[in-house]
Amino acid sequence: MGLHSCSRGSVVSALAILFCLWGVNGRSRPRLYVVYLGDVKHGHPDDVTASHHDLLATVTGSKEDSMASMVHNYKHGFSGFAAMLTEDQAEQLAEFPEVISVEPSRTYTTATTRSWDFLGLSYEMPSNLLHKARYGEDIIIGLIDTGIWPESRSFSDEGYGPVPSRWRGLCQVGQDWNLSNCNRKIIGARFYTAGLDEEVLKSDYLSPRDMYGHGTHTASTAAGSAVEGASFYGLASGTARGGAPRARIAVYKSIWTTAGTGTTATVLAAIDDAIHDGVDVLSMSIDQPGDNSFGALHAVQKGITVVYAAGNFGPRPQTVVNAAPWVITVAASTIDRSFPTVITLGNKQQIVGQSLYYQEKNSSSRSIFRNLAFGGLCGEDVLNGTDLAGKIVLCFPQGAVEQVLMPLFTFQEALQNIQNAGGSGIIYAQYTTDTLEVTATCNGIACVLVDLDTGNKIVEYMSATSSPVAKIEPARTFTSKELLAPKVAAFSARGPSIYYADVIKPDIAAPGASILAAKGNSYVTGSGTSMATPHVAGTVALLKALHPEWSPAALKSAIITSASVTDEHGMPILAEGLPRKVADPFDYGGGNINPNKAADPGLIYDIDPSDYNKYYGCAISRTTVRCNRTSLPGYHLNLPSISVPDLRHSISISRTVTNAGEVDAVYHAVIQSPPGVKMDVEPSVLVFNATNKFHTFQVKLSPMWKLQGDYTFGSLTWHSGQKTVGIPIAARMTMYDFYADVA
Ligand SMILES: *[C@@H]1O[C@H](CO)[C@@H](O)[C@H](O)[C@H]1NC(C)=O
Ligand SMILES: *[C@@H]1O[C@H](CO)[C@@H](O)[C@H](O)[C@H]1NC(C)=O
Ligand SMILES: *[C@@H]1O[C@H](CO)[C@@H](O)[C@H](O)[C@H]1NC(C)=O
Ligand SMILES: *[C@@H]1O[C@H](CO)[C@@H](O)[C@H](O)[C@H]1NC(C)=O
Ligand SMILES: *[C@@H]1O[C@H](CO)[C@@H](O)[C@H](O)[C@H]1NC(C)=O
Repeated sequence: MGLHSCSRGSVVSALAILFCLWGVNGRSRPRLYVVYLGDVKHGHPDDVTASHHDLLATVTGSKEDSMASMVHNYKHGFSGFAAMLTEDQAEQLAEFPEVISVEPSRTYTTATTRSWDFLGLSYEMPSNLLHKARYGEDIIIGLIDTGIWPESRSFSDEGYGPVPSRWRGLCQVGQDWNLSNCNRKIIGARFYTAGLDEEVLKSDYLSPRDMYGHGTHTASTAAGSAVEGASFYGLASGTARGGAPRARIAVYKSIWTTAGTGTTATVLAAIDDAIHDGVDVLSMSIDQPGDNSFGALHAVQKGITVVYAAGNFGPRPQTVVNAAPWVITVAASTIDRSFPTVITLGNKQQIVGQSLYYQEKNSSSRSIFRNLAFGGLCGEDVLNGTDLAGKIVLCFPQGAVEQVLMPLFTFQEALQNIQNAGGSGIIYAQYTTDTLEVTATCNGIACVLVDLDTGNKIVEYMSATSSPVAKIEPARTFTSKELLAPKVAAFSARGPSIYYADVIKPDIAAPGASILAAKGNSYVTGSGTSMATPHVAGTVALLKALHPEWSPAALKSAIITSASVTDEHGMPILAEGLPRKVADPFDYGGGNINPNKAADPGLIYDIDPSDYNKYYGCAISRTTVRCNRTSLPGYHLNLPSISVPDLRHSISISRTVTNAGEVDAVYHAVIQSPPGVKMDVEPSVLVFNATNKFHTFQVKLSPMWKLQGDYTFGSLTWHSGQKTVGIPIAARMTMYDFYADVA
């Protein structure tokens, strides 16, 4: 296995750091591996377990050693096991014909309500999907996360009917968790410890109970019951609720403690059980280094829709994770709510930043004018020795790339330094204010984010006066159609995927910035693709309640083809980043989620689940020698998107659509070619009636020039009356087999 750089020089990447951790083990020391054997062969689960032990014994030498090294058996949704192995043993196992892959178990991390109203699913509108789907009643949403806080009001089961009879899960008791913690809302709860060390487990509840808070937040966002009067210290106040407030919740705690650590082994064990238990939707707000998605594939092939976070390493390109073609990969967008925080300068000028800064009623840190100091980078070395007692400090990292790029990390450092020096406030200038959560934990000192030109206005004021002062007021909540929203959030990871370059990823954007949801017994805001993921899972639950016969591919198609690429004023959706720009499919896939439109999508791009193996056999079993090079590129899969990473000559791509609307309908193609590409659709008119429920058409893409190019974007939209069914198209013209910028 390749050794990746172990330096921490770059702030970029927990991914690099994780790779580093799993690259440095010696050959002889045993470590946790996941051995994948494919579908479950016929037989009793106990026989399956016995056959796993027999196989393992052939490399460990004895049955006893095999027993000792086995950590987990997968026997419900798919066949395989997790075991402590030396690298030699792992290599030996990989040689067996029945073994599809042997991969080291890697570390996962968690990626971090107005939003449902913003998406058109308010309680007050009786015609919307929420009501038509009976609030997602009896749909079961499985969450693979950090557990749940069962006492939260969001998980009250008042008024619920009996647990659906098809449910086969269980309530696993443990520390501070007994059978009464499961109810008609939380119908199942399990936890997984495979391969985690004692220290990690000791600092958390050894049970499904959520210490971290992340799993409680995501569960209440997807399926929380309505709770009135929720707020974060008065901010974002209103009714907190999930997208499918009547759906049932099944908890699979696989991520532990504040570090948010899990492993491939724990996550696969959770998926295996979730398949067995009978969940309808799996919501996975976790960051997966590398890609090892056969567990999700088995779930999808068993009819479970798998929804995954795209990751939080945006706005850089090629950062999207969890990008397998069979899952829904979710980007994060903003909503029409902000938290303006007024800063008044000594010359009476008022400027506005954003924060979650609040004051306790009896707070001693009232809003008064205080001396204003310039802190530059606000690094320890810069502030050391300066007297900041009682002052507000402007941190303005002019030209310092790290600070500008990674406000999330550098803000915390600056805050710490200023607190150490006795400061009473921080104004932090950066290119985006998308990650407000940093300002929710300022421990009583006033803190606010401003963008760079606002920062510069403060600098100008400071240089014009000898004793600059400023006053920071607590944040207010501002919800308005006048706010430009949605926008793709800065941190939201971007495509294309480095593993699946021939599909468009992410698939969809959903609200993921400053989302209020449950944590413990209270409510906090969270930002991240972690928060966006349960918005899609909740929407899937509603769609599934309305259309129980739809496959995971059909549900995904409905969501992607109905997504919005413009806001309510018809303005194109923007992507926050460097630079800020009009969003393209590698920012948000089909666009921003539009649940009401997804309920009645018109046409559906469905996929036979066995097709995934045909196209992606190699991706599924990447590490084995027996991996067949797939003969067909992934863009021939019937996905509701097309991405051709190597367009060298004319190609013809076929798609099949199923009519899911009125029986008699005529659709006309409207084409927006990617610049530089000639695009034709044949036939360009599709006539559906009682006998013709499906149509296959060809999309012909021809490069207009010979050049070593880059991606350009277009779309294909089928129109029938008011109905539109759009898919994004991406194409990169190439002449050579390398993609680096050669200009
Ligand atoms: C479960 O725990 C709660 C509180 O911790 C306790 O009140 C209750 O009696 C327990 N229930 C059972 C069945 O043990
Ligand atoms: C404010 O009140 C809370 C609880 O009422 C108390 O814990 C806290 O110490 C008080 N803070 C100040 C600054 O008096
Ligand atoms: C801060 O200043 C003190 C005293 O001048 C010095 O001992 C210490 O090393 C400095 N720390 C840093 C990080 O520069
Ligand atoms: C690989 O290709 C060979 C020859 O085309 C075929 O016989 C075999 O079944 C394929 N294996 C898999 C796993 O698809
Ligand atoms: C559906 O349309 C096809 C082609 O126009 C036609 O041959 C067929 O008879 C139609 N079926 C019905 C039930 O109208």
